Formats: sequence, structure tokens, C-alpha cells
Amino acid sequence: MIEGIRKVAVIGAGIMGHGIGLEFAEAGYAVAITDSSPAALDAARDNVAATLAERGKNAGAIDQIVFTTSLEDAGRDADLVIEAVSERLPLKEQIFGDLDRLAPPHAILASNSSSFMPSQMAPFTKRPDKVVVTHYFNPPHVAPLVEVVKGPETSDATAELLRRAYDDMGKIPVVVQKERLGFIGNRLQMAMFREALSLVSDGVCSVEDLDTVIHSSIGRRWSVAGIFEVFDLAGLDTVLAVSRALMPDLSNADGPPAWFVEMVEGGDLGIKSGKGFYDWDSAHGEEARARIRRGLSVTGKTNAVT
Ligand SMILES: NC(=O)c1ccc[n+]([C@@H]2O[C@H](COP(=O)([O-])OP(=O)(O)OC[C@H]3O[C@@H](n4cnc5c(N)ncnc54)[C@H](O)[C@@H]3O)[C@@H](O)[C@H]2O)c1
Repeated sequence: MIEGIRKVAVIGAGIMGHGIGLEFAEAGYAVAITDSSPAALDAARDNVAATLAERGKNAGAIDQIVFTTSLEDAGRDADLVIEAVSERLPLKEQIFGDLDRLAPPHAILASNSSSFMPSQMAPFTKRPDKVVVTHYFNPPHVAPLVEVVKGPETSDATAELLRRAYDDMGKIPVVVQKERLGFIGNRLQMAMFREALSLVSDGVCSVEDLDTVIHSSIGRRWSVAGIFEVFDLAGLDTVLAVSRALMPDLSNADGPPAWFVEMVEGGDLGIKSGKGFYDWDSAHGEEARARIRRGLSVTGKTNAVT
């Protein structure tokens, strides 16, 4: 724990919120997790208990978490609030306005939004210097990175307190100095996805072969070294020549291809509907989730998860 943060309130107890809350509890903070849906809170309590048992370190951490449907109870006395409700801007605007009234004036108000920027939530508060995005990757208690995204009015003190808190609890924080849609990780991922969709659309390869290329080559490299480090090792003269040859040929589509839109609008949503780019049954889903969790936990500074 670090000085300046004692109680953490997490708003939204879904996929992300329960994992964010459980990790702060493991680190010794008092945590309140709130959700407008009692069923979501019940599921979160079960998920937190199961995950803590699986991690086998600090099953008692659940006693430091209060589960409540009251935003007021959760926000009261909080030093840090992390909003993780559904990705709808009007909802986030309303919650930031409510939290500004309910949380103590010194509290940092953070959002785990995947796409909205601090400047979109800050105007609904009287503390724009304390509004920030803390963007986790799923599963939040396993993936080490948190992007701490500063808006134009976010203070250095706010970003620095969060950077120290995450560092102290074994996460890997990166402070994103200038807000930009998608921050860093999702921009990189979407740039790659655009090219992947284009290669499959053009019949260059199958979905399966493209995924194999990623996890048997560049994905393995990138799990241990960043793109700039890898290219320094390759020789920048070569990298420049390849950049000049390939960049003009890469996809610059300004939206997803029609076949992908039709697929999603037709109900192929991935694992949650049983079919996406792949066919999913529950055994395949469990195996893939476990494989990804293992992969995420073996590199970098992690909380020694299983
Ligand atoms: N799922 C991911 O991979 C991922 C990754 C990074 C960031 N995010 C972001 O995290 C946030 C949450 O995503 P998620 O996947 O956990 O969603 P989710 O749907 O699993 O959970 C959202 C929760 O918010 C609750 N909620 C809705 N309105 C509320 C209100 N007024 N007050 C309190 N609770 C309310 C819902 O009941 C639900 O339990 C989103 O902003 C999303 O973009 C998600």
C-alpha cells in the first residue's frame, strides 16, 4: 500500500470491475465494489472468491471487500475511485457527476474505459486535475499493464500517485502523456487487426494460419521485447528498406470490411454466441482462456499468478 490511498471504490462489478477490486484487496487496500445490478454483485462475489482460491495466496482478501449496490456508500471515504461500468458515454458522464458529489474532494476519479478519454469525463466534475483513465487489459488481475492516461487537465501529481500505487502492487504502469483515442495498446491492436482482416479478405491466408503466424513468431518476440528493441536487433537499415517497400501496400481501410460487419450483425459474436472466427464449445473456451492466462502471467513483473 502507498501513502495517499487507503480505500479504493470500484464502480461496476463485471468482467473488469471484480478483477480490479480483488487485486487492490490483495494489495491490502480497503475496497468497495458497487453495481446497480444485485445479480452482477452476487456473481462478482463468487468470481472474486473463486479467483482468490485459485491464486492461493491471500484468500482472506475478500474480507477487505464490501459489495454494495449503493454508489454513495462505495464513494464515501474513497481515496481512489475506478469506474468500470458498461462502455456508454452518457452513463459514464452521469457517474462521474455523481462521484464528484459523493467522493471526498481529494479523491482521484479514474475510468477503465477502453475508448473514452479523460477530457470526455472531466467536464462533469469540478476536479479535472484528478480525472484520469486507468486502462487495464483483460483479465485485469492477470495482465500486468495499466495505461495511466492523462487528459489535458490531469495533474502530474494524479498520474504519479497512480504510477507509484501500481508499481507498488506489482503491476506495470505506463503513463500515457497525451490522450489519444484507444491510448497505446488498443491502437496497436486495431492497426494489426485492420491488416489481418485485409489479408483474410484478399484470400492471402486463412484465419487459422494468420493466428499461427502471430503466436509462433512476432507474438512470441513481443511478449519479451518491444517492437523498437526487436528492430534495433534486426538492423535499422533493413527495417527502413522493408518499411519503404511494405508501408505503401498495407491496408489503410477506414472501417471494417462488410463481411466482418455482416458476421457480427448476423449473431456470430465469438465465444459468447458459440461462433466467431472459430467455432467454440465450452472445453475449447476453457482451454483457450487458461492458455492465455498462463501466457500473460509468465512474462514481466506480475503478481505471480497461476
Ligand atoms: N472486457 C474487456 O476486455 C475490457 C478491457 C479493458 C477495458 N474495458 C472497459 O471496462 C469497462 C467495463 O467493461 P466490462 O467488460 O467489465 O463490462 P461488463 O458488462 O462485464 O460490466 C459492466 C458492469 O457495469 C454495471 N453497470 C451498468 N450501469 C451501472 C450503473 N449505473 N452503476 C453501477 N454499475 C453499473 C453492469 O451491471 C455490469 O455489471 C468498460 O468501459 C469497458 O470498455 C473492458
